[in-house]
Amino acid sequence: MKKNLILIGLMGTGKTTVGQALANLTNWRQVDCDQWLIQNYGMSIPFIFKEYGEEKFRQMETESLKTILQDDCQVVMTGGGAPLREENRRIMVENGLVIALQADANTIIERVKLDRNRPLLEGNLVERVNTLVEERKGVYDFAQIQIQTDGKTVEEIVSELKGEINKRVSWI
Ligand code: S3P
Repeated sequence: MKKNLILIGLMGTGKTTVGQALANLTNWRQVDCDQWLIQNYGMSIPFIFKEYGEEKFRQMETESLKTILQDDCQVVMTGGGAPLREENRRIMVENGLVIALQADANTIIERVKLDRNRPLLEGNLVERVNTLVEERKGVYDFAQIQIQTDGKTVEEIVSELKGEINKRVSWI
């Protein structure tokens, strides 16, 4: 299996924080797909959604994932909607170990409430998060590793993950 740790999960499940900690642990490069996409296309995510629509964003997201995952020894943080496309799920499982971070709706709301950079959360935040949690049920289940993050520190999550990763590969 190609040496990549790929983090998936809804917005606010802790992909960025946990990804940074995993990158420190492995000494691998950390690649945030959203940031990569923003830099490569030279546009912010709210701008892309507003000017071109979600479908175009999803296309850019697939292209970004494909390019990023040509490389290895990376901790890759994906956007929350990346696993919606079958093609993206295939690209991920073919190019690394996929880790799904889970969190309850209330935890997600607490984590994202100050961030105005997520077009899919515009409007009533509580309603939007609850709807997305419902709509995305089962979408992250293809990951080889699943971990609940509620009420845990980053250290606890990483230590748990380390155990789970070591059951499957000997990378860390
Ligand atoms: C999205 C999640 C966002 C970003 C975009 C769409 C989604 O990434 O890709 O706003 O569909 O869940 P984060 O999960 O990093 O917030």
